[in-house]
Amino acid sequence: MKNDILMLHLLKHPLLTHKLSILRRKETPAKEFRETLEEISALMAFEITRDLPVKDVTIETPMGICHTQELEMGVILIPILRAGLGMVGGISNLIPSASVGHIGMYRDHDTLEPKTYYSKFPNNMADAVVMVLDPMLATGGSSSAAIQFVKDQGAKSIKLVCIIGAPEGVSRIMKDHPDIQIYLAGMDEKLNDIGYIMPGLGDAGDRLFGTN
Ligand code: PRP
Ligand code: URA
Repeated sequence: MKNDILMLHLLKHPLLTHKLSILRRKETPAKEFRETLEEISALMAFEITRDLPVKDVTIETPMGICHTQELEMGVILIPILRAGLGMVGGISNLIPSASVGHIGMYRDHDTLEPKTYYSKFPNNMADAVVMVLDPMLATGGSSSAAIQFVKDQGAKSIKLVCIIGAPEGVSRIMKDHPDIQIYLAGMDEKLNDIGYIMPGLGDAGDRLFGTN
């Protein structure tokens, strides 16, 4: 139980809660949904980067020598298509040096099993902090498969960053990948009988891109 608590970071902040309500509201149009998802991801970036390793450096300011620190490891963002794409801008604005890989996945409507249709990764996965991005952690099938993909590419330091999670999805990741840190801005009640998070926000990919 102690390890479970350490793995799950449920971020609490009035701005996050407020912006999450905008995402959840059914009247929110795609443009505002996109902008708000990016803002929430940027707000989360502060916490998800809290333990990034740093190295000592000596630099020169206009006034003299300064002993300070810089990020030691590269950061790689891996959005799960489609909805994870909406989280890239907010985080990469704050970490402009981050590379971006992609995993294309969709859930089979009947089995809820993830189907992978695309993947492309940077080649330094083993030496970077890898952040898998997907707004929705429902059954956990997509995120678990994506994490396995990046592990197979050599990634050793991996974080899963989602916006809303269901207890079922969190348990699945903890069971399949007990070495992974999970970050959420909201933890909802349950899944409904077709695998959607309740109350959730609906289909994140459709709301982001205005499809249905
Ligand atoms: C959604 C969401 C996650 C997945 C979550 O993607 O963005 O990737 O479902 O569900 P899970 O935890 O049960 O696997 P979807 O399959 O709708 O694809 P899309 O983003 O292309 O719409
Ligand atoms: N995927 C979504 O986009 N929303 C859910 O509630 C569950 C899976």
